[in-house]
Amino acid sequence: WVLMVTAQTPTNIAVIKYWGKRDETLILPVNDSISVTLDPEHLCTTTTVAVSPSFENDRMWLNGKEISLSGGRFQNCLREIRCRANSVDDEDKGIHIKKEDWDRLHVHIASYNNFPTAAGLASSAAGFACLVFSLAKLMNLKEDQGALSAIARQGSGSACRSLYGGFVKWVMGNDDNGSDSIAVQLANEAHWDDLVIIIAVVSSQQKETSSTTGMRESVETSALLHHRAQEVVPKRILQMEEAIRTHDFPSFARLTCADSNQFHAVCLDTCPPIFYMNDTSHRIISYVEKWNRSAGTPQVAYTFDAGPNAVLIARNREVASLMLQRLLFYFPPPPATELTSYVLGDKSI
Ligand code: DP6
Repeated sequence: WVLMVTAQTPTNIAVIKYWGKRDETLILPVNDSISVTLDPEHLCTTTTVAVSPSFENDRMWLNGKEISLSGGRFQNCLREIRCRANSVDDEDKGIHIKKEDWDRLHVHIASYNNFPTAAGLASSAAGFACLVFSLAKLMNLKEDQGALSAIARQGSGSACRSLYGGFVKWVMGNDDNGSDSIAVQLANEAHWDDLVIIIAVVSSQQKETSSTTGMRESVETSALLHHRAQEVVPKRILQMEEAIRTHDFPSFARLTCADSNQFHAVCLDTCPPIFYMNDTSHRIISYVEKWNRSAGTPQVAYTFDAGPNAVLIARNREVASLMLQRLLFYFPPPPATELTSYVLGDKSI
């Protein structure tokens, strides 16, 4: 027999960034972060996990190609899930798995991204969230989403926020064992569905410095990172929560842009400096800043993760379609820029 579970998980975009760990193994951050989860049909991972007595090893295929499972992060997630596994009984299929059987049963995992993996867009967040969620279903875990987020966090920090839709906060927590470093939902996907997210793929090349390496070097060498974590982010988190609660777009945009810029300032403050944005990214920032100034009130927020691609959040659909027209005019694709639209809570514009 073979028992299978399939799940689909979208990626998330941080508006208050996670950058820096206080514990590298458990993946415990130096500050809280807040993100927005994309619609499931855009930038998502679909994962099927299967268990069978005939499987001799744990194996995984990513986009059809087998990958190694020797990495510590994958093993940590699997271990955490296995030790919480429960019995499974499927009378129709004649499947009876006892709790203790999970220690000797092996899993096969097939995962697909519905976007090019090489596009330099965050894939580890959706990937680990989906892996943990589907394995938890397969092994009949009784834990709530918060506890599952703490397991996904050990795969990739940002993954813990993808277990919820809408606006999500990753609470850094205080415990050394990481039990209180979990994601909580601030508001569901229906709360602010005027917002439209556009991702401008500025470069489809893989980033030179991974997030993991980059943040390690920032923690070791950037004084700005420590100032940011202790003095800046705690206040911004409160302001951002309030902006989301009250649909205050000007505050939301101001905080999102400022936090992205400070994250990249931390990267520059790192020794040796890390450059994630390129000239096109900088031109997009200048363009959005000018547009917002001339409109008198912010219409669009921008944020950049560990790469040059712009994530633009428009206050509504009208602004989003205008923005898309203008971006296509000023940054014409191809070959300079490929633009794809991803819309929060609705269909593509
Ligand atoms: C810039 O979650 O990819 O996207 O925990 O080492 O796997 P690891 O890092 P990762 O870092 C994401 C960094 C970021 C900001 C964010 O998503 O909050």
